[in-house]
Amino acid sequence: MSSFWVVATVLASWYIWQRKPKAQAGPLPPGPTPVPILGNVRDLTAKELWLAATKWAKKFGDVVHVHVVGQGLVFLSSPEATMDLLDRKGSIYGDKPALVMAGELCGCENMVAFTRYGDVSKRQRKLLNQAFGVQVIPSYHPLIETETHSFLRRLVADPSNYIDHTRRYAGGLTLSVVYGYEAVASNDKFLNLGEECVDLLSNKIASGGGIWPVDIFPSLKRLPTWAPGSGFLLKAAEWKAKMEEFVDQPYEFVKASLKNGNYVPSFCSMLLEDKEKCTPQFEFDLKHTANSMYSASMDTTITVFLHFLLAMEEIDSVVGSDRLPTFSDRASLPFVDALLSETYRWGVPVPLSLPHRLMEDDVYRGMFIPKGSLVFGNIWAITRDEKLFPNASAFLPERYLEKVDPALAKKRDPRSYVFGFGRRRCPGVNLVESSVWLMVTTALATLDISKAKDDFGNPIEPKIDFNNAVFRIPDKFQCDIRPRSEHALKVLRQTDATRL
Ligand code: HEM
Repeated sequence: MSSFWVVATVLASWYIWQRKPKAQAGPLPPGPTPVPILGNVRDLTAKELWLAATKWAKKFGDVVHVHVVGQGLVFLSSPEATMDLLDRKGSIYGDKPALVMAGELCGCENMVAFTRYGDVSKRQRKLLNQAFGVQVIPSYHPLIETETHSFLRRLVADPSNYIDHTRRYAGGLTLSVVYGYEAVASNDKFLNLGEECVDLLSNKIASGGGIWPVDIFPSLKRLPTWAPGSGFLLKAAEWKAKMEEFVDQPYEFVKASLKNGNYVPSFCSMLLEDKEKCTPQFEFDLKHTANSMYSASMDTTITVFLHFLLAMEEIDSVVGSDRLPTFSDRASLPFVDALLSETYRWGVPVPLSLPHRLMEDDVYRGMFIPKGSLVFGNIWAITRDEKLFPNASAFLPERYLEKVDPALAKKRDPRSYVFGFGRRRCPGVNLVESSVWLMVTTALATLDISKAKDDFGNPIEPKIDFNNAVFRIPDKFQCDIRPRSEHALKVLRQTDATRL
């Protein structure tokens, strides 16, 4: 055992010993048996934790409790439990954990997904509604169309680099909408910075639920840097500097463009134009809110498109056209909407959503859920529930075409889950609904997507692995992407080819 773990174990014993036993209003929810002091540390894996959480749900029920050195984690694995707690009791389940490592030490405490429930988070959500309220989205349609066409032109010109193109599309769209910045190439400085920071965030800082020993024993943050086990402080300082660059640089770009009068209208420029409003607090909120959109949109959008590619290897095309689809086609393409629903469900971009922190003790179905518990909506378990989605591991868009009563339709709509819950539900949902729809429809109209073939012409089964701790992004797989026809290629080339 390293000296770090000796120190941690001693501190843990002290921490648990000095905590006064609470008068509990019932038993804790069931869960896998913890070991003394460390709790369920060994049950929590950074790789695909949602699979373990779903196994627990099968064994113990839809509300499962585990703990890590006294920090309770609750996994909700049914529509009923997520709706009863995260949605209906949103006012007490809307907080975020005060993570010392991610928040204070790595500088993420003002990102929307990390802000505590209160004035700051309310101000940020208001700004987000201003940017992405359903009525504002049509004003982004021309921009979304331009970005989508550029993306598909790049994809047909160089299909093997589909991940880079998707990343550039996802990041590029948000950079234009939020900062009025046009990413000029796949190795654009802001795209690279964004990718590095999003990777740091999900695979290092927030890996495995994002709980570090210092989150349980905050006094560890005062360890001298020569002390055994203090390596996390050096890492945090390095990561914090990167995250600050990520918050500041694109924002400074907008400010400089506004100053020299050469700017493309964007979410930031629109809000900065009103000089009266620009107090230091407003700018602080704006800067961090803008950054949150960027980081939240990257991996989620990439995950959806990669799952769409995987699904398309399995089914035939559904759209054919002499022109590219536009938003006005949506009502006449119900199968595409069904296909998109199934892509959300089958792909599950954020399988455990993001943790919410319970602000008061609660009792649910006779089980006691202590204040401070981190509560995860297990979207994976819900969207793989065989009763709700028969043959759940198969990609079957037609499951949404069956007419059912509105209450059941809502329960079977993956959008009720994949964007999270209650007061922290994803504020980017309206933008995603437009941008992903156009991306998918245009890809269907112009591309043939199939399994790659070996030298003998036999289809190669893609090997899929997932190594991101928060987003269910498939690692790169082989696939064959080509223009549907010469005609499709011509139609695509007729779009604004001045942008690469
Ligand atoms: C397919 C794409 C997307 C999916 C599946 C998705 C899903 C999610 C989920 C599951 C959460 C956690 C909600 C919770 O805590 O209950 C979330 C939070 C968030 N998302 Fe999205 N998202 C997507 C795209 C976007 C985009 C494009 C933006 C911004 C432009 C965005 C902005 C945010 C922000 C700021 C939060 C934090 C909200 C808060 O804690 O109050 N997301 N998203």
